[in-house]
Amino acid sequence: MAKVFDAAEVAKHNTRESCWVVLYGKVYDVTDFLSSHPGGAKIILKLAGTDATEEYDPIHPPGILEEELKPEACLGTIDAKTMPKEEPAPETSEPAQGPPPVETLLNLDEIEEVATKQVSQKAWAYYSSASDDKFSKHFNNRIYQSILLRPRVFVDCSRCELDTTILGHKVGLPFFIAPAAMARLGHPAGEAGMAEACRSFGAMQIISNNASMTPEQIVKDAAPDQVFGWQLYVQIDRKKSEAMLARINKLKAIKFIVLTLDAPVPGKREDDERNSMAGAAAPVPSGVKAAERTSDDTPDVSGGSGGVGQQLFAGTDPSLRWQDTLPWLAQHTDLPIVLKGLQTHEDAYLASLHTPQVKGIILSNHGGRALDTAPPAVHTLLEIRKYCPEVLDKLEIYVDGGIRRGTDIVKALCLGAKAVGLGRAALWGLAAGGVDGVRRTLQILADESKTCMRLLGVENVDSLGPQHVNTRMAEAQIYDGPSGLDSLRQAFKARL
Ligand code: LAC
Repeated sequence: MAKVFDAAEVAKHNTRESCWVVLYGKVYDVTDFLSSHPGGAKIILKLAGTDATEEYDPIHPPGILEEELKPEACLGTIDAKTMPKEEPAPETSEPAQGPPPVETLLNLDEIEEVATKQVSQKAWAYYSSASDDKFSKHFNNRIYQSILLRPRVFVDCSRCELDTTILGHKVGLPFFIAPAAMARLGHPAGEAGMAEACRSFGAMQIISNNASMTPEQIVKDAAPDQVFGWQLYVQIDRKKSEAMLARINKLKAIKFIVLTLDAPVPGKREDDERNSMAGAAAPVPSGVKAAERTSDDTPDVSGGSGGVGQQLFAGTDPSLRWQDTLPWLAQHTDLPIVLKGLQTHEDAYLASLHTPQVKGIILSNHGGRALDTAPPAVHTLLEIRKYCPEVLDKLEIYVDGGIRRGTDIVKALCLGAKAVGLGRAALWGLAAGGVDGVRRTLQILADESKTCMRLLGVENVDSLGPQHVNTRMAEAQIYDGPSGLDSLRQAFKARL
């Protein structure tokens, strides 16, 4: 018979020397696990002696507990009657208001506004945060407004199709859900809900390495022709990444691996950090503050637990290099590789030297969440067109960051992007209305893209080209130094 504990007893185990937590009604002794928790010890200590389920659940896929903890770490169950009662919500005369029906939301700004009101402060802080002064986050969007469209008239625009191919796979939309982490933090439908919405449009989804559901759960109900990619953040403990790749290789719906390179370390995301500090100071359900619970009295000037972002990045290997990581990857998967996060023409060029293993690149500054003032994807695309346009023939190029309108998508396609990724936009859609919220987001962008194409006088995605955009303003801002390609070419040959 499993031992039954009362909350007062669990609450005593609230130090580094003896740290217990309650998860899903079970009591775990996680003292030995503190030093190996990928998200660091601080976040667990903050919850030591309490029921941590609410914090734990939205950011951990099922199965992780069993993988990470020894069976004897589970001490028994909690007697629910002894748990502290939640404070009842203050009474108001206003009836509680749910979100408005998603069909009444007209654009992505409206969806984000509704989503912001639905999600926890923690989810808002994690999703919306970006590095430093958030210049890159905002510039990612503004850059599209500096590109003007060149509509042709007297063209039959009664027909317009958005379907295209990605790495040879047919997709219904030239935009896709990018690998943004932790969907269940914003809505319980999570990444599987996003997959369901994508299914309605034949749209592609790249599953985050830090998804809040397992890849198996996410692709479970995939349509036979539904296309997924899986994002890899290579872990310092390579065995973990190798085990994940072995699982991914078995999932037929996953057609390629997206190796993320733009965030070997996370940027300084102050909204996320601030929220975690506020959380650390707040009383937790046992009524004890974190500061009183740690046995170590040394003042800690390193800040709070660093927010969700810092926790997710713990364990990520910052030492990846072209020459080591791609050969290692080749040993563990035959799937095509897409490199994500290239921000200069030099790196795009280097990627093109790694065909056929590398089949595509995603130009991305990680939604402005890594290096602030790094260039938006459109700059990198223009740079490639200027210095090494042949890369466009060798690799498929995708972009992400800052997409708010169908016109943004169409402009990127005109410049040679094969498809365009939506990160936060998909998360906000989910948070605003679950599966239907994501469907609404995709529908709005599909309608706007079609309207844009018809007004340009273009019938299908393949007919879009640089003649449809005026990029003079953006071009005036892009990198103008030496190409540097000769030395890269020589160094690459010398390595062969
Ligand atoms: C991020 C990750 C995990 O927070 O991609 O940016």
